[in-house]
Amino acid sequence: MSQPSDTLHNPMSLAGRSLLVTGASAGIGQATAVLLSRLGARVTLNGRDEGRLADTLSRLTGEGHRVAPFDMGDLDAIPAWMKEQAALSGPFDGVAHCAGIQTLRPIRIFSQEFFDQVMRVNLGSCLALAKGLRQKGVRAERSAMVFISSTAATAASPANIVYAAAKGGIIAATKGLSAELLPDGIRVNCVVPSIVMTDLIERGFEKLSQEQIDHLQRLQPLGFGHVDDVAHAIAYLLADTGRWITGTALTVDGGRTA
Ligand SMILES: NC(=O)c1ccc[n+]([C@@H]2O[C@H](COP(=O)([O-])OP(=O)(O)OC[C@H]3O[C@@H](n4cnc5c(N)ncnc54)[C@H](OP(=O)(O)O)[C@@H]3O)[C@@H](O)[C@H]2O)c1
Repeated sequence: MSQPSDTLHNPMSLAGRSLLVTGASAGIGQATAVLLSRLGARVTLNGRDEGRLADTLSRLTGEGHRVAPFDMGDLDAIPAWMKEQAALSGPFDGVAHCAGIQTLRPIRIFSQEFFDQVMRVNLGSCLALAKGLRQKGVRAERSAMVFISSTAATAASPANIVYAAAKGGIIAATKGLSAELLPDGIRVNCVVPSIVMTDLIERGFEKLSQEQIDHLQRLQPLGFGHVDDVAHAIAYLLADTGRWITGTALTVDGGRTA
């Protein structure tokens, strides 16, 4: 017969953990921050919009949370910024990197400036955060990173090629980093969502006809996702439930790529 303590054990508990969430001012990042706080974590909230970060802060459960506005496109400054944040929040047991940008743009209007911006914010930031987290004093003894890729990388996504390439790069970076950061006690995984209704998607849909939107919905047998569907997967990978998982791309897509 199990002991009473077994029935209380929650392998997804994050009690006592210090976690950094980027993109916490909106969408998936905000939902993730709220969930991680409910699971007991102290959360450092990153984004650029201080008003929206304050709104996220007001939604969190528990104490010890902070906001830390910073531009994830400023790659060379990220490691020093993380050192400052760890000094204030404590070494990070994990990072949920949810900041990202998407602008639909057909290849006929491709430009170097557009490429640099999309690659820097979506993919470069993952690498700079990995460099930052592995520093002594920034990571806890065991730590985990979760990036957000996209089914744009694994199923054709027209007029979205640079974003798709950045998101494909995240899957490749996840695998390489998982091996490179193993000696530092850092697990590295990513989630691969299909369409979840957020500001990012609503902005994209403004450029599409109703017929195109209906087509996108039909591509996902389980319909469009909810931000919590992705937040749950991120929490699973950060918590002890993910302790034997590294280098994985976890598809969370309502059956889009099944
Ligand atoms: N929604 C989907 O269907 C979907 C599907 C697959 C993958 N994804 C990925 O999931 C992630 C979150 O998407 P979402 O739909 O939640 O987007 P969203 O609602 O537009 O939120 C994006 C977040 O990223 C932050 N951000 C953007 N640029 C930043 C920068 N330079 N520095 C710091 N923070 C920055 C924004 O904060 P500020 O504005 O305050 O800076 C905001 O908090 C992205 O990586 C996206 O590519 C989304």
